[in-house]
Amino acid sequence: MSKNKPYFIIFGNEKGGTGKSTLAMHVAISIAEQGRKLAVIDLDLRQKSIFRYMENRQEMNNKIGIELSQPDFFVIEQSLLDSKKEAQQAEQSALQQQLDNLPEDTEFVVIDCPGNNTYLSRLAHALADTLITPINDSFIDFDLLGEVDADSHEVNRLSHYSEMVWESRKLRLVGGKKPLDWIVTRNRLSSLSSRNNQKVHNALTALQKKIMFRYVPGLSERVIYRELFPKGLTLLDMKKVDTMGKTQASHIAARAELRNLVESLNLPEKRGS
Ligand SMILES: Nc1ncnc2c1ncn2[C@@H]1O[C@H](COP(=O)(O)OP(=O)(O)OP(=O)(O)O)[C@@H](O)[C@H]1O
Ligand SMILES: [Mg+2]
Repeated sequence: MSKNKPYFIIFGNEKGGTGKSTLAMHVAISIAEQGRKLAVIDLDLRQKSIFRYMENRQEMNNKIGIELSQPDFFVIEQSLLDSKKEAQQAEQSALQQQLDNLPEDTEFVVIDCPGNNTYLSRLAHALADTLITPINDSFIDFDLLGEVDADSHEVNRLSHYSEMVWESRKLRLVGGKKPLDWIVTRNRLSSLSSRNNQKVHNALTALQKKIMFRYVPGLSERVIYRELFPKGLTLLDMKKVDTMGKTQASHIAARAELRNLVESLNLPEKRGS
């Protein structure tokens, strides 16, 4: 019997610290909370953030005796081979092996990429059914997408990253796959609505048709995201585990933002439903 192919959700960009791992963890747990089977793969071979986040979660799960949803998770180990080509091949085989060994009923694979251009990251982008690119609320992050005229929002030149996504898009079309759904979302939005905030919003709205991504609402800047990591928890767990004190109004608002983000991904329905 042929294995059902899982749906690939890739978190990527070529800029460090924009929230890929934080968002990947929250989206992964949102999917798991819906009773969907998924695996999380960390391709950030040096920082291993989401892998460590998942390990913290496993520890928390053992400690508190409440069933926290726990996706399968893996990290691809960095090859120590001297030859760059051989190291790339070894890492590619390790990734392929993980994918081949996924349980048959795995519906989604969430892959967290590093904030720089690596061979594995490029491979992951080529696998993406949905690619999620978080950017911070600044025009500096626009360079990640392309060189944009500040007044007209015309794209003067695509960035290397956008070109790489474009190549992945072409490969999918040649392979007869559904078009890639590229989502750009803002993260760490300031709660104060500023002129900059509005300008970034306008520019992304204008840019989405030109570079062919969907611009969807993102998450605000909230200290809670930093506090959750060592506990392996997400916003979605806080009702079950009251380790953060009383639920605050800001946490309810944060959960609503997350729900909106996940809904706007338009992920495929459960198989057979
Ligand atoms: N919405 C948010 N509010 C406040 N802090 C946040 C938010 N999102 C992420 N952070 C914090 O910002 C830092 C960077 O986030 P994260 O590690 O998720 O980014 P990344 O894109 O995965 O980084 P890298 O490129 O280095 O892998 C972390 O300390 C994280 O806790
Ligand atoms: Mg990361």
